[in-house]
Amino acid sequence: MHSFRELLEKFEKRFQAQSFPERPARLYDAARHMLQMQGKRIRPILCLMGNELFDEIVEDAFEAAAAIELFHNFTLIHDDIMDKAPLRRGQVTVHEKFGEPTAILAGDVMLVQAYEHLKYISSDILPDILHAFNQAARLVCEGQQLDMEFEASHPSEIPMDAYIEMITLKTSVLLAMSLQIGALIGGAGDRNIHHLYEFGKHLGIAFQIQDDWLDAFGDPQQFGKQQGGDILANKKTFLLVKAYEMANSRQREQLDEAFRLSGEEKVKQVLDLFEALHIREWAEAEKQKYTEIALHHLEEIAVISSRKKPLEELVHYLLNRTS
Ligand code: IPE
Ligand code: IPE
Ligand code: MG
Ligand code: MG
Ligand code: MG
Repeated sequence: MHSFRELLEKFEKRFQAQSFPERPARLYDAARHMLQMQGKRIRPILCLMGNELFDEIVEDAFEAAAAIELFHNFTLIHDDIMDKAPLRRGQVTVHEKFGEPTAILAGDVMLVQAYEHLKYISSDILPDILHAFNQAARLVCEGQQLDMEFEASHPSEIPMDAYIEMITLKTSVLLAMSLQIGALIGGAGDRNIHHLYEFGKHLGIAFQIQDDWLDAFGDPQQFGKQQGGDILANKKTFLLVKAYEMANSRQREQLDEAFRLSGEEKVKQVLDLFEALHIREWAEAEKQKYTEIALHHLEEIAVISSRKKPLEELVHYLLNRTS
């Protein structure tokens, strides 16, 4: 079995070779700008780990992993436009640097490039892989749509289960699909794939709660995104939904008032109210709850436990991450 670090090294060697045509230079510079600011590569590594859980890693898994990372980067470019985000991975976002039209197209080109990688998969289960990929891609669009619709709603109108559904769609299904495709390539059976998918889905929920938490309370130097970006964009994060759930009527009014402010003052007042309502602790407890469900599904997978070690280590890395 390989560790995250070892798999990352193997993946990077292949992924670096990403090539784009020369012209129009601005379009491909925008795509390269996104790809050179390396992310954590969680999804491709999940794909490789899903593969290695059942078999030796094969070349097909690297193609799928590359496709997944390209797809993820495509969603981030479009997400930063939708969220009006100035910073990503500690650098200027693609639309800020190259303008929105070019950013949209750079994202589109990356999606196409993702399918180019899938094309090289030689396995006879390619239709199953494509189905899983397309299904997740569609669900991500649905989640992003809900995320945008929620921006315009009052937080008290968004119950926690609606928030969980939204993040399951926008974030978790992609983590789950990455594992699922790796496992499909590894020849896993339906029952094991089901538990692996559910593992990824619940891990993804905890992962997005951590992302919401970092957006508000993380160190922006490490996290690489604008601090309080979700508050400024009126995002319905775990923190905000929980805050309205816990607040008394006076505190609800204070939250409403804080959300009528703008800029740093808005962020500061909202964060103070989150602290007063112990939202940090609630986020921690919720992450723990979903992690336990995830680990339960991992246990159910019928392979010897030593093969699961890299995934168990990944769970701990992800949930304590600062970037
Ligand atoms: C960011 O995902 C988008 C979310 C679903 C929260 P990551 O935190 O995995 O982003 P990178 O690829 O490491 O930058
Ligand atoms: C991202 O959710 C989900 C997708 C990109 C599909 P966020 O909007 O919270 O992600 P970040 O915080 O910008 O990375
Ligand atoms: Mg965003
Ligand atoms: Mg978003
Ligand atoms: Mg976020």
